[in-house]
Parts: sequence; C-alpha cells; structure tokens
Amino acid sequence: MGTALPHKLCHFLGRIFGLPQAQTHAITLPHATVFNKDAIRALLAPLLGAECDCWGDHMTEYFSEEGSIDAVNARMGANVSPRLKTIMMAVVSHLHDLVKEIELTQEEWELAIKFLTQTGQMCSAERQEFILLSDVLGVSMLTDAINSRRPAGATENTVLGPFHLVDAPIRNMGDTIALDGKGESCRFEGRVLDLKSAPIAGAVIDVWSDNADGFYDVQQPDIQPKWNNRGRFETGADGAYCFVGIKPVSYPIPNDGPVGHMLAALGRHPYRPAHIHFIVTAPGYEKLVTHTFVGDDAYLGSDAVFGVKNTLVAPYEKSEGGPEIWSSKFDFVLMESDGA
Ligand code: BEZ
Ligand code: FE
Repeated sequence: MGTALPHKLCHFLGRIFGLPQAQTHAITLPHATVFNKDAIRALLAPLLGAECDCWGDHMTEYFSEEGSIDAVNARMGANVSPRLKTIMMAVVSHLHDLVKEIELTQEEWELAIKFLTQTGQMCSAERQEFILLSDVLGVSMLTDAINSRRPAGATENTVLGPFHLVDAPIRNMGDTIALDGKGESCRFEGRVLDLKSAPIAGAVIDVWSDNADGFYDVQQPDIQPKWNNRGRFETGADGAYCFVGIKPVSYPIPNDGPVGHMLAALGRHPYRPAHIHFIVTAPGYEKLVTHTFVGDDAYLGSDAVFGVKNTLVAPYEKSEGGPEIWSSKFDFVLMESDGA
C-alpha cells in the first residue's frame, strides 16, 4: 500500500460519513505510516542519509511479545560506541529469549528483583556479593578463561577471590607466613620460570591462604594477627622461592547472604577445596593469578566457584628430615607479555 491510498481513503470516508477532514486524517494516517514504515523509510533515505536509521523504528515499533527484542534494540542511538552497542543488543536479546523460554511469571520476576536488590545491599567495602554471584555462576572463571588463554606449559590462572590485600609485607626467602601458630606446617618451594625453563629473577610472589580454622585474616581481624598467612617474596637470579606456611584447609565461601541462600536453594554446598593463592608478577611477563590445590581434598571435584584446574593440583608430601610436617613443590611458568 502506498502513502497516497490512505490519504485518498481519508477523503472517501470523510465524504461518505460526513466526517471532519482533520480528525479523519489524524486518526488514519499514523496507522498507514506504521504499516508503511519500510516504504516510507526507503523514500526518505536519500534525503536523510545515515541519520535515517534512528527515527523509523522507535516511531513505529510498538512493544509486542513477538517483537520485544527489536522494539528495545531499535531505540539505540546512532552514535553509540560499537562495542557498547554489540554488548547491549546481545544482553537484551539473551535476556528476552530467557524470559520467553521459561515464561517468567510476575512472582518470579519480583523474586529476581528482590534477590538482586539484596545482593546490592549486601555489598560493602569488605564484601562484594555481586562478584560472589559471578563466581558461583561460573562467570568469573569463564571471563578469565577467555582473557587468559596461554600456551601449553604456562601456568594457568584461576579465580582471584575477595581476600587478596595489596601491600602484604615483603619477606625474606625461607620466612614463615603463618603467624598464629595453628595448623600443620608446610614448606612451599619452587622456581619462577619462563616458557623455555629459564629462571626469572626479580619476580614477586604474593601469597595468601586461610588459617587452620578455614578463615582469612581479614575475616577475623580481632582474632588473627594482621598479615597472618600472607607475604611477598622476590626471586633472585635462580628464580627460586621458598617460604613456610600451613597445609591449607577447605572452607565455605561467605554464605550468610543472598548468594549463600541461592546455593542452598539449588542444593549446592558453599565449600572451596583447600588451596593457597598466588599472584606472580615480573617485568615483561603476563601477571599470573592462581592457586595451588591440595590433591586429596574432598571438594576438589565440586569447588563452589569452579576454580580447580588439573595443572594446579600440587603435590603435598610429608617432609623428610625438615622441621615442617609437609612439603609442597611447584614451579610457576610465566608467559612473556605482548609488549615484551
Ligand atoms: C577464595 O578463594 O578466596 C574465594 C574465591 C571466590 C569466592 C570466595 C572466596
Ligand atoms: Fe581462597
């Protein structure tokens, strides 16, 4: 249908039924315009040029169940950054598809809003419930996997977690980081190497772990000594590191908030298998954010935040002769950074 026909129709209806001309046009022409939007846009494109893509759809696409994705995405302005546009169009598209797939009820929608509200309210300077949500949904590990693809032989990343502190004390090789006298002592040692197995001098190993009761020092500021089970060590020419800590124990992630309640509702436990955290940095190399895991831990196959990787399960052996009970040897292999 062209644009002339509805116009003629206005006059025809007006004449037959004795309708006032202005009102008949006002009611009929918008509907004809909606119906004819593609033809009208094609007609006006040579006049409006690139600007044309920003007016037609929002003028004409009313919201409907079937056309919901287009109705929202068509509102995007002409000068939006391409990456933001890609991301937000995909967000809307997947979100609407999800709502349609599960036929979300009004009550479920309200519950979801309440859950997200409580997740935000749980956040503070000490607690980031949204990151925890991302962790238990596997989104943190997936984002890291996409952004930390490494060649075989390079040590793999895993989740950072919320308990890292910058500025942990710089300690001397061989020092102990376990300051509360609890737990089974363990000597951690190994080397920081490049992909050709050459030692990296000047690498900083930033380490942190829970204590024998399964808590980080920051979770028990009135109970544990400050910087308990934390320290930074700098490698010398041989790339070697060595310090004394404890054999880590498994512990539950903070589960007294909405994320913990969600895990319970899903029949999931909140435990992480025993591990010790490391951030290894060296000039000219990619930053490594990782853990080593204790191989015989009961939660290795069901880590609440999906952080376990085969290559990160480290040996923990009874120490022979030394003063420590356990010994764990692990080499960190760094990859050169792009600019190196
Ligand atoms: C952690 O290993 O410290 C951790 C990681 C993710 C969520 C909570 C804790
Ligand atoms: Fe941890």
